Amino acid sequence: MEEINETRIQDRGVAGTVEPNVLGERPPAPVAAIRGGVAARLAHDSGPKHVTGAARYIDDEPELPGTLQVFIALSPKAHARLAALDLDPVRAAPGVACVLAAADVPGINDYSPVFGDDPIFAEDTVQYVGQPLFAVAAETLDAARRAAKLAVASYEDLSAAIDIDTALRFADAAGKDLMPPHEMRKGDAAAAVAGAPHRVAGRLDLGGQDHFYLEGQIAVAVPLEDGDMLVKSSTQHPSEVQHNVAKALGLADNQVTVEVRRMGGGFGGKESQPALFAAVCALVAQKTGRPAKCRLDRDDDMEMTGKRHEARIDYEFGVDGEGRILGAEIRHLIRCGYSCDLSGAIADRAMFHADNAYHLPAARIHSRRLKTHTVSNTAFRGFGGPQGMVGTERAMDRIAFALGLDPLDVRKRNLYPAAGGVTPYHMEVTDSIAAELIEELERTSDYRARREAVRAFNAANPILKKGLALTPVKFGISFTTTHLNQAGALVHVYKDGSVHLNHGGTEMGQGLFTKVAQVVAEEFQIDIDRVRITATTTAKVPNTSATAASSGSDLNGMAALNAARTIKDRLIAYASARYHVPADEVVFLPNRVRIGREEKRFRDLVGEAYLARVSLSATGFYATPDISYDRDTASGRPFFYFAYGAACSEVVIDTLTGENRLLRADLLHDVGRSLNPALDLGQIEGGFIQGMGWLTTEELWWDKAGRLRTHAPSTYKIPTANDRPDDLRIRIWEKGENRAETIYRSKAVGEPPFMLAISVFSALTDAVIAAGDGRIFPDLDAPATPERILAAVEQVRGG
Ligand code: MTE
Ligand code: MOS
Repeated sequence: MEEINETRIQDRGVAGTVEPNVLGERPPAPVAAIRGGVAARLAHDSGPKHVTGAARYIDDEPELPGTLQVFIALSPKAHARLAALDLDPVRAAPGVACVLAAADVPGINDYSPVFGDDPIFAEDTVQYVGQPLFAVAAETLDAARRAAKLAVASYEDLSAAIDIDTALRFADAAGKDLMPPHEMRKGDAAAAVAGAPHRVAGRLDLGGQDHFYLEGQIAVAVPLEDGDMLVKSSTQHPSEVQHNVAKALGLADNQVTVEVRRMGGGFGGKESQPALFAAVCALVAQKTGRPAKCRLDRDDDMEMTGKRHEARIDYEFGVDGEGRILGAEIRHLIRCGYSCDLSGAIADRAMFHADNAYHLPAARIHSRRLKTHTVSNTAFRGFGGPQGMVGTERAMDRIAFALGLDPLDVRKRNLYPAAGGVTPYHMEVTDSIAAELIEELERTSDYRARREAVRAFNAANPILKKGLALTPVKFGISFTTTHLNQAGALVHVYKDGSVHLNHGGTEMGQGLFTKVAQVVAEEFQIDIDRVRITATTTAKVPNTSATAASSGSDLNGMAALNAARTIKDRLIAYASARYHVPADEVVFLPNRVRIGREEKRFRDLVGEAYLARVSLSATGFYATPDISYDRDTASGRPFFYFAYGAACSEVVIDTLTGENRLLRADLLHDVGRSLNPALDLGQIEGGFIQGMGWLTTEELWWDKAGRLRTHAPSTYKIPTANDRPDDLRIRIWEKGENRAETIYRSKAVGEPPFMLAISVFSALTDAVIAAGDGRIFPDLDAPATPERILAAVEQVRGG
């Protein structure tokens, strides 16, 4: 692994000769240090392999002889009764080895994460265009695809709800939503709003987002003896894939092993979705006794798999004359698609983040989870949090507009205090650094001077208008389903002193494997090249949670540390007894161990310990402490801590075409004490750009028949390198330190920076406002495509 920058971050006190405190509280660092310990600016362990093509993804692996290719046939209807499905012509087609539909599933025909409402193959009704009907396994994918076309299906159409408005009508008629509504209450929000000197209300529609991971969904199943099954799956959640495969095949969990070395991106789209493809392959493998592979086309992937939840947010804020919030009433309508999937927790997280970084003295947050006859929406970076935050950031802009104030001033007046603020779910915020962080960014981004420059530019330019915005992020870290906050690891030290590391987390590009390897290298005080990073497998670490909620390094880092510490303690006990020195005189130095006055190479001590029959393998476990949440009363401490950040974005729009560009962005983000600043910077940049894509160019468009018409890069526009602003200044907050006792006091970084992109959306709003005469606040929805910006410009110009 390459160290990006030779200099270790010595002043963070993380590399030490003295027995470290897990929490990063160490004496000053020594001169000589190991290569690639905690806080090293190490490149991603697969970085060079990613760019040379040497990194193996599932599709790169040589296929076993006899491997069948699987094609999944999809429903062409949004909502219909499946009256008849004749698959005989498919079975008779050349090259076809097996055809499977609902009746052919020996176990349970379901791949849902929780609620049992995601059939692997449609039964008597279809509920979205793209729903799997049946699978064809053939010698080639082409043969499977051709054969699938021969199926004869007949449908009786049923009425379908495609968008939020129809979903509301359907829900009214049915007397229920997909899932029951939920509410958080703090104080008497209605009274606070009613009694406030000013009331500001509005509505915002937010589009969904396709994950557009570069590696699409894929699975390979290999039948083993006794009916056991080995599955390779591109998944963030191997344990759930294992369980769903077992459930579909009628096997016990211990007969199924799921393995994943890496994903070419997941972004939440590989939490619950991969179970479908894994289950279909495993069904084929079980039936035929041959290996089976299913790799989706991009178009099929986009039509079949869930996306970020579209949302409608209605808000009414009561404020004083200076924009201080007195009360807030917020309503969320969440478009879930046809089934529950993870929508309950996602809609909850939208509520958990409706306050963003702002203290709401009184609040009522109401959320409805609506059913549409479209693909079931799922996890996506931020897990509903972004939707909740954007609603409130829009309210901030509107409050500032109504009162003629600078939006930054309104934001600053409402931030959580450093300690003592209470969230709408009754958790005390004890770690708010939002104010301090914003002060710093306001200064370093030169906000005030640039505000003046933007004003001057706009006064001088009738056609081009600039906009500027500085917005904060506060993101809660932990799975809000408390029991998920656990992780396991397995560490072996071999006789030659090399280390094999395994844990339940998965690698999707975020650099988790590198970070956890750094933790283990640090603990043993050995160079990181001595730590072998290995594929995640349910056979080594069981019952894992998805690598999600940004908690990968928090959870697996601690579990791996605990495993390494167990082995280290055994080595210390051995050396202390063998050489008659007190345990505290056995000290791990870089690649050596000092035992009393003697020094040995780490590998020599390990070799000796082996001969003395000391166990050199250990599991480690970690469960996040001090969290609990009572959903019935919507109160508790769901989050172990919060991650903070802020961003200042400057945009320009063309008022004749709606075309726009991000000119400059300054990002300041808190990662606690970074485990690896190089990887963290990558996460901040990638998250921000992905968030910008969601809010500006990525538009999902379904026609009236429920067909997704933007299902390829030709019609669905993700940001490219060219959309990255020429002037992008990213800084990790130097003062960052996690007050919670996390791994080396670091903070999770995977999702929070996504929401820094809200500054781009706010800046676009600011530019549109500048196009008008200041009387009308624009109804700019997301994504703020050129069409929408143009319409908003016309609106503020009274057109
Ligand atoms: N970064 C890359 N390169 N690829 C990804 O798929 N997923 C994001 C984030 N960063 C993702 C990523 C999401 S949705 C989450 S929850 C976290 O990484 C998961 O990893 P972590 O918990 O190790 O941060
Ligand atoms: Mo991330 S949406 O929690 O996988």
